[in-house]
Amino acid sequence: MCGIAGYVGPRDAVSVVFDQLKRLEYRGYDSAGIATLQGEQIEVLKRAGKLTNLDALLKERPISENHIAIAHSRWATHGGPTDENAHPHFDEFEQVAIIHNGIIENYQELRDELAHRGHRFHSQTDTEVAAHVIGAEYSQGVPLEEAVRRACLKLRGAYALVVISRTEKGKIVCARNASPLVLGFGEHENLLASDIPALLPYTREVAVMEENTLAVLTEEGIQVMDMLGKPVPIEIQHIEWDVEKAERGGYEHFMIKEIYEQPEVMRQCLAGRVDEGGEIRFESIFSEHVWNEIDRVNVIACGTAYNAGLMGKHLFEKLLRLPTDVYHSSEFRYGDPVLSPRSLAVFVSQSGETADSLAALRLCKDRRIRTLGIVNVIGSSIARECDRTIFTQAGPEISVASTKAYTAQVMVLTLLALYIAQVQETPGVRTRQWVNSLVGLSELAEDCLKLDSQCQEIAAAFDGAPLTFFLGRGADASVALEAALKMKEVAYMPTQESPAGEMKHGPLALVEPGVVSVFGATDPGLADKVVSNMQEVKARGGTLVTVGTEQTRAVQSVSDHYLEIPHTPYPFLNALLSAIPMQLLAYHVAKRRGCEIDMPRNLAKSVTVE
Ligand code: F6R
Repeated sequence: MCGIAGYVGPRDAVSVVFDQLKRLEYRGYDSAGIATLQGEQIEVLKRAGKLTNLDALLKERPISENHIAIAHSRWATHGGPTDENAHPHFDEFEQVAIIHNGIIENYQELRDELAHRGHRFHSQTDTEVAAHVIGAEYSQGVPLEEAVRRACLKLRGAYALVVISRTEKGKIVCARNASPLVLGFGEHENLLASDIPALLPYTREVAVMEENTLAVLTEEGIQVMDMLGKPVPIEIQHIEWDVEKAERGGYEHFMIKEIYEQPEVMRQCLAGRVDEGGEIRFESIFSEHVWNEIDRVNVIACGTAYNAGLMGKHLFEKLLRLPTDVYHSSEFRYGDPVLSPRSLAVFVSQSGETADSLAALRLCKDRRIRTLGIVNVIGSSIARECDRTIFTQAGPEISVASTKAYTAQVMVLTLLALYIAQVQETPGVRTRQWVNSLVGLSELAEDCLKLDSQCQEIAAAFDGAPLTFFLGRGADASVALEAALKMKEVAYMPTQESPAGEMKHGPLALVEPGVVSVFGATDPGLADKVVSNMQEVKARGGTLVTVGTEQTRAVQSVSDHYLEIPHTPYPFLNALLSAIPMQLLAYHVAKRRGCEIDMPRNLAKSVTVE
């Protein structure tokens, strides 16, 4: 989810694309670069760190004014945030330079093949491999767009890429497959960007590129074609949004934007990790024999990441029979935990900078315990200090309340449990069937998002509620904790969260008319028990909101409000999907209560103090 910019026209192109990058800064990035033409050569300037570093480089090595440039701000996925890994990248003969968003899944096999043919690589990125594939096609003497089209047929994955060449000087070619790319139409100038805000100072006439299309931008115009080279009509829309709204992709808040990104995040989580035969592979993980040594897992995290860890515990214990404890980092670091030398400590963190989690990690390292990070931000402290790290690939999360990072964390924990089962050949675990369900999950997540307007209506049921319960059994009980955290954070609503079976051991005393209870009831094996718990609440005058599936529809007749999500063969995955309507409920309740949704009072996105 990096930033992309491109310009061709009469203005100073480097200044334009640099300005475009600035307008994409809110997305977060860890390096940036520009490619432009200087005489017969392509000049590439790039630097790790913030745009000020690139600016300093531009001042050191001034570029004579020119009229075509592409630029990129990178949020690392393959390889750390270094100067070498920053985009743009050249092909073998520096005929083309490219920038790229997304992940090329088959980059390793392409790289091996090219290396065998004598290509030399200067970075660890999949992008440089794509540059070499395009360059190899370009060497056949075809136009740039044809080289890009042919190369795209060889690339697997989700990507947006943008290319310039040193010989076809007035042309930018870009291609889109799953990662967003927007074209901007000006008067004798044309632009492109990964996001609309980067276009708005120059034009309000934009077109979002369709999947699997390619565009050629020159000063005179833009042509779009499909991957067979056939022209595709362009649908230009006029954008009225102000820049702030545009940064949120037209959504009112980052929180709702990020909720809506979850189907894509689910796809990104799997990208490059699941092959066509349903085998799971991770780029950097312990060798296979290590998994047979591990006798216990301790998941250590804070807040939402802790709640994701609780979901992981279900799978590690149910599927692998691997004892798993989940600790709050702040408790772990001061709690003198008993740690088996054969245990694995798993640190889950969106930011990778949470002070308590980092301190707990250092404690584990002092005790020589194996550590594994599940982290969103590449180059962050936890990612760097863990023995191994798996990245959640959720893209920058801007809303303080975490939504898509939670989904990504649970997805990765699920993949990890299945990976261990695959390595250990755990009897009874059909990893391929699980993987099929994971692959299909993003489509079901799209269906969950269709509940948005129903959630908006149901939010009225929370008006005046003094308290909201979040309840469930099994994995639904873990999702209930996360759902309650969202409701507290963004709607400032007092909540009580508990396994449903615990209600009559105390919390039930709080139920009275006006109190709302949200039940997750997505496990067909537990639905009868949940119905009994719902009746206990109903008998005391409480309002019931339930999330169920077709297979647990029995809960509907007891509920005042019912949300139905699609079901999978696995109750665990049903519970994960139920987090989406729960997030939507919190969002709409917060809106009704006039809360500052993206920046709730008293909270910060990255908690780098104890
Ligand atoms: C809740 C939320 C926080 C974080 C917690 C850990 O919506 O965002 O509870 O989950 O502060 O942060 P990371 O994951 O960055 O370690």
